[in-house]
Amino acid sequence: MRARTMGGTTISAMHLPTRRTHTTQRISPWLPLTKNEPHLPTSQTELTERIRPLANLWGLGDNFLTLDTPNYSLNKDQLLSVLSLPLPGEPGWNDPEQTQILQGLYTAANVVCTTHHQDKVHYRGLLEFSNICRANCNYCGIRRSMHLEERYTLDEDTIMEVAKWSAERGYGSIMLQSGEVPTQKRTDFVAKMISRIVDETGLGVSISVGELPDHFYQQLKEAGAKRYLLRIETSNPELFAKLHPPNQTFEKRLDRLRSLKRHGYMVGTGVMIGLPGQTREDLANDLLFFVEEDVDMIGMGPYIFQRGTPVGDWWEQENPLLSEATRQGEKATPEQVEVLDKHAAAMFELTTRMVALARITMGDVNVAATTALQTIHPTGREVALMRGANILMPILTPTIHRANYQLYEGKVCIDESAKQCRSCLELRVGAAGKRIAYGEQGDPPHYTKKLQTAGDRF
Ligand code: 5AD
Repeated sequence: MRARTMGGTTISAMHLPTRRTHTTQRISPWLPLTKNEPHLPTSQTELTERIRPLANLWGLGDNFLTLDTPNYSLNKDQLLSVLSLPLPGEPGWNDPEQTQILQGLYTAANVVCTTHHQDKVHYRGLLEFSNICRANCNYCGIRRSMHLEERYTLDEDTIMEVAKWSAERGYGSIMLQSGEVPTQKRTDFVAKMISRIVDETGLGVSISVGELPDHFYQQLKEAGAKRYLLRIETSNPELFAKLHPPNQTFEKRLDRLRSLKRHGYMVGTGVMIGLPGQTREDLANDLLFFVEEDVDMIGMGPYIFQRGTPVGDWWEQENPLLSEATRQGEKATPEQVEVLDKHAAAMFELTTRMVALARITMGDVNVAATTALQTIHPTGREVALMRGANILMPILTPTIHRANYQLYEGKVCIDESAKQCRSCLELRVGAAGKRIAYGEQGDPPHYTKKLQTAGDRF
């Protein structure tokens, strides 16, 4: 099975036309392997040596980072200087000087991550409990106007069964995710599931059910939900407008994000990387946005082409070579495969640069190694864990429903059971020199402080 990619100077996304699992994926020669990632430095001298090229790029002394630095504020120029370095397939990629800078970056991210989270990786089991959605996001595979074989909502017993299974196996928390259904009936259902899970399993519950009015956020918080994930998708309002229908505005999304914070949730957000029309400056601004909004969790992944969506069409127009190569499917020429491979590697590189920069600037924030990352790289999540991520989200969705929860094409693991996911991920985490912190919920230390100082707001 091939990974398909395209290089080029503008960032754009990829197209993975076939469904597959990581066990059958071919590793493109352009993609990084866990064993080639720099290990953690064991002394300050080693760290200083390693980050010198990066410090030079940023105009800093090479002692800007120590083995226990909590975080380091970077300005827009510094962020851009890293994001603008060549990507796989671009001239200058793999120049020794650039390789040293990037190794310094990933070392720095891993050091900051270890300062806060030691070698721990936290599990957040992901249960996609319904694919019914009233939103019509222009990029998404489960948008309202997409025809799907089945629109499902899991029943109470099934959800509880999955939650109990997770608790018995030492998961610290579960994420309930679904399409957006802003009705009282749906909110009552979700609230009931949250309180049952909290009462009967002791798991921490995170939710990701879209933009809802204040009183629903309140109700779900009171039911016991602790974290809420609502991606901003991009911090550029003009680009946001192109990614959504007119009734879904940037202002509203931002307002909802802030409302979640007011309601006392630990708030997660994130962006897609490699969207058509997105620039590297947009990505630098995305990082500054996370800092400004002081978010607690970040989930970022590459944009992945989804056929039959407006953004998919836009992406095809912007990437004629890639579009043509993917249309060829298995008949793609070796040259076309090469172009496609380079593109996946470029998207992977850019996404993990964002992960590393988020970690360095934000310190103890929770950063997820996302499923979308693994979709473009079979061992992508492990590499991300070595570049600053600390959260893994094993999919718990019953296998029969996974094919109908494809936010994008080629989503990984849709044929696997939750049991297979667990053992597979344990091996992967070990390969990244980390261990799974079973039973822990993984609250960043600053969140506990925030709760203590927030007084009666919560
Ligand atoms: N490619 C990558 N990520 C996507 N999402 C939705 N569609 C796509 C796509 N085509 C992500 C969005 C959303 C999350 C649930 O899934 O960022 O917030």
